[in-house]
Amino acid sequence: MRHSMSKPEEGAGVSSTQPASRARKPFLAALAGERQARPPIWLMRQAGRYLPEYREIRCRAATFLEFCYTPAFAVEATLQPIRRFGFDAAILFSDILVIPDALGQTVAFETGEGPRLEPIADAGSLGRLAEEPDWNRLAPVFETLDRLKSALPGDVALIGFCGAPWTVASYMIAGRGAPEQAPARLFAYRQPKLFAALIERLVDASAAYLVRQLAAGAEAVQIFDSWAGLLPPSEFERWCVAPIADLVAKVRAKRPDARIIAFPRGAATQLGKFEHMPGVAAIGLDTSIEPRAAIEALPGPVALQGNLDPLALVAGDAALDRGVDRVLEGFGTRAHIFNLGHGVLPETPVEHVERLVARVRER
Ligand code: CP3
Repeated sequence: MRHSMSKPEEGAGVSSTQPASRARKPFLAALAGERQARPPIWLMRQAGRYLPEYREIRCRAATFLEFCYTPAFAVEATLQPIRRFGFDAAILFSDILVIPDALGQTVAFETGEGPRLEPIADAGSLGRLAEEPDWNRLAPVFETLDRLKSALPGDVALIGFCGAPWTVASYMIAGRGAPEQAPARLFAYRQPKLFAALIERLVDASAAYLVRQLAAGAEAVQIFDSWAGLLPPSEFERWCVAPIADLVAKVRAKRPDARIIAFPRGAATQLGKFEHMPGVAAIGLDTSIEPRAAIEALPGPVALQGNLDPLALVAGDAALDRGVDRVLEGFGTRAHIFNLGHGVLPETPVEHVERLVARVRER
Protein backbone atom coordinates (compact mmCIF):
# COMPACT_ATOMS: atom_id res chain seq x y z
CA MET A 1 0.00 0.00 0.00
CA ARG A 2 1.44 3.36 -0.98
CA HIS A 3 0.63 6.53 0.82
CA SER A 4 0.83 10.17 -0.18
CA MET A 5 3.54 11.33 -2.50
CA SER A 6 5.24 14.66 -2.10
CA LYS A 7 4.13 15.73 -5.55
CA PRO A 8 1.58 14.33 -7.96
CA GLU A 9 3.90 12.58 -10.37
CA GLU A 10 2.96 12.27 -13.99
CA GLY A 11 1.98 8.74 -14.86
CA ALA A 12 2.40 7.38 -11.34
CA GLY A 13 -0.19 4.64 -11.34
CA VAL A 14 -1.22 1.98 -8.92
CA SER A 15 0.13 -1.53 -9.08
CA SER A 16 -2.44 -4.29 -9.12
CA THR A 17 -2.70 -6.89 -6.40
CA GLN A 18 -4.77 -9.12 -8.65
CA PRO A 19 -3.95 -10.61 -12.04
CA ALA A 20 -4.63 -8.06 -14.77
CA SER A 21 -5.57 -10.87 -17.11
CA ARG A 22 -8.87 -11.39 -15.32
CA ALA A 23 -11.61 -11.85 -17.88
CA ARG A 24 -13.82 -9.05 -16.66
CA LYS A 25 -13.64 -6.30 -14.07
CA PRO A 26 -15.90 -7.24 -11.14
CA PHE A 27 -17.57 -3.81 -11.20
CA LEU A 28 -18.45 -4.15 -14.90
CA ALA A 29 -19.66 -7.72 -14.36
CA ALA A 30 -22.11 -6.41 -11.74
CA LEU A 31 -23.31 -3.73 -14.18
CA ALA A 32 -23.90 -6.53 -16.68
CA GLY A 33 -26.29 -8.07 -14.15
CA GLU A 34 -23.95 -10.72 -12.76
CA ARG A 35 -24.40 -11.69 -9.12
CA GLN A 36 -21.05 -12.21 -7.38
CA ALA A 37 -20.30 -13.99 -4.12
CA ARG A 38 -18.20 -10.99 -3.10
CA PRO A 39 -19.77 -7.80 -4.46
CA PRO A 40 -17.45 -5.20 -6.00
CA ILE A 41 -17.04 -2.10 -3.84
CA TRP A 42 -16.45 1.61 -4.34
CA LEU A 43 -17.72 4.57 -2.32
CA MET A 44 -19.28 7.83 -3.42
CA ARG A 45 -16.89 10.64 -2.48
CA GLN A 46 -14.16 8.07 -1.88
CA ALA A 47 -11.62 10.80 -2.68
CA GLY A 48 -11.47 13.97 -0.66
CA ARG A 49 -10.98 15.57 2.70
CA TYR A 50 -11.05 12.51 4.97
CA LEU A 51 -7.76 11.45 3.32
CA PRO A 52 -4.64 13.19 4.68
CA GLU A 53 -2.89 12.74 1.31
CA TYR A 54 -5.79 14.60 -0.36
CA ARG A 55 -5.60 17.51 2.09
CA GLU A 56 -1.89 17.70 1.40
CA ILE A 57 -2.23 18.14 -2.37
CA ARG A 58 -5.48 20.15 -2.21
CA CYS A 59 -3.73 23.10 -0.58
CA ARG A 60 -1.35 23.39 -3.54
CA ALA A 61 -4.13 24.75 -5.77
CA ALA A 62 -5.55 28.21 -5.10
CA THR A 63 -9.17 27.17 -5.67
CA PHE A 64 -11.13 23.93 -5.74
CA LEU A 65 -12.05 24.42 -9.42
CA GLU A 66 -8.41 25.00 -10.32
CA PHE A 67 -7.61 21.75 -8.51
CA CYS A 68 -10.32 19.91 -10.51
CA TYR A 69 -9.09 21.40 -13.81
CA THR A 70 -5.44 20.42 -13.25
CA PRO A 71 -5.01 16.86 -14.58
CA ALA A 72 -1.96 16.11 -12.41
CA PHE A 73 -4.01 16.89 -9.27
CA ALA A 74 -7.26 15.30 -10.46
CA VAL A 75 -5.48 12.09 -11.51
CA GLU A 76 -3.66 11.88 -8.19
CA ALA A 77 -6.84 12.54 -6.14
CA THR A 78 -8.68 9.84 -8.13
CA LEU A 79 -5.89 7.31 -7.50
CA GLN A 80 -5.37 7.99 -3.78
CA PRO A 81 -8.32 5.90 -2.50
CA ILE A 82 -7.48 3.12 -4.99
CA ARG A 83 -3.95 2.86 -3.58
CA ARG A 84 -5.11 2.84 -0.01
CA PHE A 85 -8.13 0.59 -0.21
CA GLY A 86 -7.99 -1.24 -3.55
CA PHE A 87 -11.56 -0.36 -4.51
CA ASP A 88 -13.03 -2.05 -7.59
CA ALA A 89 -13.80 1.27 -9.27
CA ALA A 90 -12.20 4.71 -9.40
CA ILE A 91 -14.43 7.75 -9.83
CA LEU A 92 -13.12 10.71 -11.79
CA PHE A 93 -12.14 13.50 -9.41
CA SER A 94 -14.19 16.53 -10.38
CA ASP A 95 -17.51 18.11 -9.36
CA ILE A 96 -21.04 18.31 -10.71
CA LEU A 97 -20.81 22.12 -10.78
CA VAL A 98 -18.24 22.20 -13.60
CA ILE A 99 -21.25 22.21 -15.97
CA PRO A 100 -22.66 25.57 -14.75
CA ASP A 101 -19.07 26.83 -14.76
CA ALA A 102 -18.57 25.73 -18.39
CA LEU A 103 -21.92 27.31 -19.32
CA GLY A 104 -20.54 30.65 -18.13
CA GLN A 105 -22.15 30.99 -14.71
CA THR A 106 -19.80 32.24 -11.98
CA VAL A 107 -19.00 29.30 -9.69
CA ALA A 108 -16.75 29.37 -6.62
CA PHE A 109 -16.21 27.08 -3.66
CA GLU A 110 -15.74 28.76 -0.31
CA THR A 111 -13.69 26.67 2.10
CA GLY A 112 -15.96 25.14 4.68
CA GLU A 113 -19.07 26.76 3.20
CA GLY A 114 -19.71 24.89 -0.01
CA PRO A 115 -20.44 26.20 -3.48
CA ARG A 116 -21.38 29.80 -4.30
CA LEU A 117 -22.84 30.64 -7.72
CA GLU A 118 -24.20 33.84 -9.16
CA PRO A 119 -27.91 32.89 -8.87
CA ILE A 120 -30.09 32.63 -11.96
CA ALA A 121 -33.02 34.87 -11.15
CA ASP A 122 -34.81 35.55 -14.43
CA ALA A 123 -34.89 35.17 -18.20
CA GLY A 124 -32.04 37.68 -18.43
CA SER A 125 -29.56 35.64 -16.39
CA LEU A 126 -30.68 32.43 -18.10
CA GLY A 127 -30.17 34.12 -21.46
CA ARG A 128 -26.57 34.93 -20.56
CA LEU A 129 -25.70 31.23 -20.24
CA ALA A 130 -23.92 29.72 -23.22
CA GLU A 131 -25.86 27.39 -25.54
CA GLU A 132 -23.32 24.66 -24.92
CA PRO A 133 -20.46 24.14 -22.50
CA ASP A 134 -17.08 25.69 -23.22
CA TRP A 135 -15.27 22.46 -24.15
CA ASN A 136 -11.88 24.11 -23.78
CA ARG A 137 -12.67 24.78 -20.14
CA LEU A 138 -13.59 21.09 -19.67
CA ALA A 139 -10.66 19.73 -21.70
CA PRO A 140 -8.63 18.96 -18.52
CA VAL A 141 -11.43 16.63 -17.36
CA PHE A 142 -11.09 14.52 -20.52
CA GLU A 143 -7.30 14.66 -20.24
CA THR A 144 -7.66 13.37 -16.65
CA LEU A 145 -9.75 10.40 -17.81
CA ASP A 146 -7.32 9.66 -20.59
CA ARG A 147 -4.39 9.56 -18.17
CA LEU A 148 -6.34 7.46 -15.67
CA LYS A 149 -6.97 4.76 -18.26
CA SER A 150 -3.34 3.73 -18.21
CA ALA A 151 -2.68 4.51 -14.53
CA LEU A 152 -5.30 2.17 -13.08
CA PRO A 153 -4.76 -1.51 -12.31
CA GLY A 154 -6.30 -3.82 -14.91
CA ASP A 155 -9.18 -4.93 -12.69
CA VAL A 156 -10.27 -1.46 -11.56
CA ALA A 157 -13.04 0.22 -13.56
CA LEU A 158 -13.17 3.95 -14.29
CA ILE A 159 -16.40 5.84 -13.56
CA GLY A 160 -17.29 9.27 -14.95
CA PHE A 161 -20.22 11.33 -13.71
CA CYS A 162 -22.41 14.37 -13.91
CA GLY A 163 -25.14 15.87 -11.78
CA ALA A 164 -28.74 15.28 -12.80
CA PRO A 165 -30.45 18.33 -14.34
CA TRP A 166 -32.69 18.92 -11.29
CA THR A 167 -29.85 18.81 -8.75
CA VAL A 168 -27.54 21.03 -10.85
CA ALA A 169 -30.42 23.46 -11.55
CA SER A 170 -31.15 23.69 -7.82
CA TYR A 171 -27.63 25.07 -7.20
CA MET A 172 -27.83 27.34 -10.25
CA ILE A 173 -31.07 28.95 -9.06
CA ALA A 174 -30.25 29.29 -5.36
CA GLY A 175 -26.58 30.04 -5.91
CA ARG A 176 -25.77 27.63 -3.07
CA GLY A 177 -27.05 24.54 -1.30
CA ALA A 178 -30.23 26.04 0.14
CA PRO A 179 -32.38 24.39 2.84
CA GLU A 180 -34.93 22.12 1.11
CA GLN A 181 -33.72 23.57 -2.23
CA ALA A 182 -36.66 25.95 -1.73
CA PRO A 183 -35.52 28.62 -4.23
CA ALA A 184 -35.45 26.16 -7.16
CA ARG A 185 -38.74 24.54 -6.15
CA LEU A 186 -40.39 27.98 -5.97
CA PHE A 187 -38.86 29.00 -9.29
CA ALA A 188 -40.23 25.82 -10.93
CA TYR A 189 -43.75 26.57 -9.61
CA ARG A 190 -43.68 30.24 -10.54
CA GLN A 191 -41.84 30.14 -13.85
CA PRO A 192 -42.24 26.59 -15.18
CA LYS A 193 -41.43 27.52 -18.78
CA LEU A 194 -38.21 29.23 -17.83
CA PHE A 195 -37.28 26.38 -15.50
CA ALA A 196 -38.00 23.87 -18.29
CA ALA A 197 -35.65 25.83 -20.57
CA LEU A 198 -32.89 25.60 -17.95
CA ILE A 199 -33.50 21.86 -17.47
CA GLU A 200 -33.38 21.35 -21.23
CA ARG A 201 -30.07 23.22 -21.47
CA LEU A 202 -28.69 21.00 -18.72
CA VAL A 203 -29.94 17.79 -20.36
CA ASP A 204 -28.17 18.68 -23.60
CA ALA A 205 -24.98 19.89 -21.91
CA SER A 206 -24.79 16.88 -19.57
CA ALA A 207 -25.48 14.36 -22.36
CA ALA A 208 -22.70 15.83 -24.51
CA TYR A 209 -20.43 15.93 -21.45
CA LEU A 210 -21.02 12.24 -20.60
CA VAL A 211 -20.55 11.20 -24.24
CA ARG A 212 -17.15 12.93 -24.17
CA GLN A 213 -16.26 11.31 -20.84
CA LEU A 214 -17.08 7.88 -22.31
CA ALA A 215 -14.98 8.65 -25.38
CA ALA A 216 -12.09 9.71 -23.12
CA GLY A 217 -12.07 6.43 -21.19
CA ALA A 218 -14.90 6.32 -18.64
CA GLU A 219 -16.30 2.76 -18.61
CA ALA A 220 -19.51 3.72 -16.85
CA VAL A 221 -21.10 7.00 -15.79
CA GLN A 222 -23.17 7.90 -12.76
CA ILE A 223 -25.88 10.56 -12.73
CA PHE A 224 -26.07 12.12 -9.24
CA ASP A 225 -29.56 13.38 -8.42
CA SER A 226 -28.71 14.18 -4.82
CA TRP A 227 -31.83 16.30 -4.25
CA ALA A 228 -34.40 14.16 -6.10
CA GLY A 229 -36.10 13.38 -2.81
CA LEU A 230 -37.06 17.02 -2.24
CA LEU A 231 -39.44 17.05 -5.19
CA PRO A 232 -43.05 16.29 -4.26
CA PRO A 233 -44.68 13.47 -6.25
CA SER A 234 -46.56 15.96 -8.47
CA GLU A 235 -43.25 17.49 -9.66
CA PHE A 236 -41.10 14.37 -9.62
CA GLU A 237 -41.92 13.06 -13.07
CA ARG A 238 -41.35 16.40 -14.79
CA TRP A 239 -38.15 17.56 -13.11
CA CYS A 240 -36.45 14.33 -12.08
CA VAL A 241 -37.61 11.31 -14.12
CA ALA A 242 -38.18 12.89 -17.55
CA PRO A 243 -34.89 14.85 -17.65
CA ILE A 244 -32.90 11.77 -16.58
CA ALA A 245 -34.71 9.62 -19.18
CA ASP A 246 -33.90 12.26 -21.81
CA LEU A 247 -30.29 12.51 -20.73
CA VAL A 248 -29.86 8.73 -20.78
CA ALA A 249 -31.50 8.47 -24.22
CA LYS A 250 -29.24 11.20 -25.62
CA VAL A 251 -26.12 9.49 -24.29
CA ARG A 252 -27.26 6.13 -25.69
CA ALA A 253 -27.98 7.66 -29.10
CA LYS A 254 -24.25 8.42 -29.40
CA ARG A 255 -22.92 5.53 -27.28
CA PRO A 256 -25.38 2.61 -27.51
CA ASP A 257 -23.20 0.53 -25.21
CA ALA A 258 -23.01 3.16 -22.43
CA ARG A 259 -23.40 1.78 -18.92
CA ILE A 260 -25.25 4.24 -16.73
CA ILE A 261 -25.91 4.33 -12.98
CA ALA A 262 -28.84 6.48 -11.86
CA PHE A 263 -28.73 7.77 -8.28
CA PRO A 264 -32.02 9.49 -7.48
CA ARG A 265 -31.34 10.08 -3.79
CA GLY A 266 -34.40 10.09 -1.57
CA ALA A 267 -36.68 8.70 -4.27
CA ALA A 268 -37.46 5.43 -2.49
CA THR A 269 -41.12 5.08 -3.45
CA GLN A 270 -40.48 6.10 -7.07
CA LEU A 271 -37.48 3.90 -7.86
CA GLY A 272 -39.43 1.74 -10.31
CA LYS A 273 -39.50 4.68 -12.73
CA PHE A 274 -35.77 4.31 -13.39
CA GLU A 275 -35.66 0.56 -13.78
CA HIS A 276 -36.72 0.26 -17.38
CA MET A 277 -34.90 3.22 -18.82
CA PRO A 278 -32.81 1.57 -21.54
CA GLY A 279 -29.19 2.09 -20.61
CA VAL A 280 -29.69 2.30 -16.85
CA ALA A 281 -27.58 -0.65 -15.75
CA ALA A 282 -27.70 0.08 -12.02
CA ILE A 283 -29.69 2.11 -9.55
CA GLY A 284 -27.96 3.78 -6.62
CA LEU A 285 -29.89 3.42 -3.37
CA ASP A 286 -29.79 5.87 -0.49
CA THR A 287 -29.78 4.85 3.19
CA SER A 288 -33.52 5.14 3.65
CA ILE A 289 -34.54 1.98 1.82
CA GLU A 290 -34.48 -1.58 3.16
CA PRO A 291 -32.73 -3.98 0.79
CA ARG A 292 -35.86 -6.14 0.72
CA ALA A 293 -38.05 -3.20 -0.33
CA ALA A 294 -35.55 -2.21 -3.02
CA ILE A 295 -35.46 -5.73 -4.41
CA GLU A 296 -39.26 -5.83 -4.52
CA ALA A 297 -39.50 -2.43 -6.19
CA LEU A 298 -36.74 -3.30 -8.67
CA PRO A 299 -37.08 -6.97 -9.64
CA GLY A 300 -34.18 -6.81 -12.09
CA PRO A 301 -32.11 -7.42 -14.06
CA VAL A 302 -30.93 -3.91 -13.06
CA ALA A 303 -28.00 -4.03 -10.60
CA LEU A 304 -28.41 -2.42 -7.18
CA GLN A 305 -25.77 -0.14 -5.68
CA GLY A 306 -25.61 0.91 -2.05
CA ASN A 307 -26.51 1.54 0.67
CA LEU A 308 -24.58 1.63 3.96
CA ASP A 309 -25.23 4.69 6.11
CA PRO A 310 -22.20 7.05 5.86
CA LEU A 311 -22.65 7.72 9.58
CA ALA A 312 -22.21 4.03 10.39
CA LEU A 313 -18.86 4.40 8.63
CA VAL A 314 -18.04 7.40 10.83
CA ALA A 315 -19.13 5.48 13.95
CA GLY A 316 -17.08 2.35 13.22
CA ASP A 317 -17.00 -0.64 15.58
CA ALA A 318 -20.07 -2.84 15.94
CA ALA A 319 -22.39 -0.33 14.26
CA LEU A 320 -20.24 -0.48 11.16
CA ASP A 321 -19.97 -4.28 11.18
CA ARG A 322 -23.71 -4.70 11.64
CA GLY A 323 -24.43 -2.21 8.88
CA VAL A 324 -22.06 -3.95 6.46
CA ASP A 325 -23.55 -7.37 7.19
CA ARG A 326 -27.08 -6.08 6.71
CA VAL A 327 -26.19 -4.69 3.29
CA LEU A 328 -24.30 -7.83 2.22
CA GLU A 329 -27.07 -10.14 3.34
CA GLY A 330 -29.86 -7.90 2.13
CA PHE A 331 -28.60 -7.74 -1.45
CA GLY A 332 -27.06 -11.22 -1.53
CA THR A 333 -29.51 -12.53 -4.12
CA ARG A 334 -28.85 -9.74 -6.62
CA ALA A 335 -26.21 -8.23 -8.86
CA HIS A 336 -24.94 -5.80 -6.22
CA ILE A 337 -22.30 -3.10 -5.99
CA PHE A 338 -21.38 -2.30 -2.41
CA ASN A 339 -21.48 1.44 -1.71
CA LEU A 340 -22.74 3.96 0.80
CA GLY A 341 -26.20 5.53 0.65
CA HIS A 342 -24.50 8.92 0.15
CA GLY A 343 -20.94 10.22 0.11
CA VAL A 344 -18.09 9.58 2.55
CA LEU A 345 -18.18 12.35 5.19
CA PRO A 346 -15.03 14.43 5.81
CA GLU A 347 -14.85 13.31 9.47
CA THR A 348 -14.67 9.61 8.51
CA PRO A 349 -11.66 7.84 10.08
CA VAL A 350 -9.50 6.17 7.44
CA GLU A 351 -9.26 3.01 9.58
CA HIS A 352 -13.03 2.59 9.40
CA VAL A 353 -12.86 2.49 5.62
CA GLU A 354 -10.11 -0.15 5.90
CA ARG A 355 -12.33 -2.16 8.23
CA LEU A 356 -15.29 -1.85 5.85
CA VAL A 357 -13.33 -3.05 2.84
CA ALA A 358 -11.84 -5.96 4.79
CA ARG A 359 -15.27 -7.07 5.95
CA VAL A 360 -16.77 -6.94 2.45
CA ARG A 361 -13.78 -8.87 1.10
CA GLU A 362 -14.01 -11.53 3.83
CA ARG A 363 -16.98 -12.99 2.03
O1 CP3 B 1 -16.74 10.82 -5.42
C1 CP3 B 1 -15.58 11.27 -5.57
O2 CP3 B 1 -14.63 10.97 -4.81
C2 CP3 B 1 -15.31 12.16 -6.77
C3 CP3 B 1 -15.40 13.56 -6.55
C4 CP3 B 1 -16.73 14.29 -6.33
C5 CP3 B 1 -16.76 15.55 -5.69
N1 CP3 B 1 -18.04 16.03 -5.76
C6 CP3 B 1 -15.59 16.22 -5.08
C7 CP3 B 1 -15.78 17.33 -4.12
C8 CP3 B 1 -18.04 13.99 -6.74
C9 CP3 B 1 -18.59 12.74 -7.42
C10 CP3 B 1 -18.85 15.10 -6.37
C11 CP3 B 1 -20.30 15.19 -6.68
C12 CP3 B 1 -21.09 16.28 -6.10
N2 CP3 B 1 -20.72 17.60 -5.94
C13 CP3 B 1 -22.45 16.16 -5.70
C14 CP3 B 1 -23.28 14.90 -5.82
C15 CP3 B 1 -22.98 13.92 -4.72
C16 CP3 B 1 -23.41 14.38 -3.34
O3 CP3 B 1 -22.54 14.46 -2.47
O4 CP3 B 1 -24.60 14.62 -3.15
C17 CP3 B 1 -22.86 17.42 -5.24
C18 CP3 B 1 -24.24 17.77 -4.71
C19 CP3 B 1 -21.76 18.33 -5.41
C20 CP3 B 1 -21.73 19.78 -5.12
C21 CP3 B 1 -20.73 20.12 -4.09
N3 CP3 B 1 -19.36 20.07 -4.26
C22 CP3 B 1 -20.99 20.56 -2.76
C23 CP3 B 1 -22.35 20.74 -2.16
C24 CP3 B 1 -19.75 20.77 -2.17
C25 CP3 B 1 -19.49 21.32 -0.78
C26 CP3 B 1 -19.85 20.36 0.27
C27 CP3 B 1 -18.80 19.31 0.42
O5 CP3 B 1 -19.14 18.12 0.44
O6 CP3 B 1 -17.65 19.71 0.50
C28 CP3 B 1 -18.74 20.42 -3.09
C29 CP3 B 1 -17.27 20.47 -2.90
C30 CP3 B 1 -16.49 19.23 -3.15
N4 CP3 B 1 -16.69 18.35 -4.18
C31 CP3 B 1 -15.39 18.78 -2.39
C32 CP3 B 1 -14.94 17.60 -2.98
C33 CP3 B 1 -13.78 16.74 -2.56
C34 CP3 B 1 -14.80 19.50 -1.18
C35 CP3 B 1 -14.01 20.69 -1.60
C36 CP3 B 1 -12.54 20.70 -1.17
O7 CP3 B 1 -11.92 19.64 -1.00
O8 CP3 B 1 -12.00 21.79 -1.03
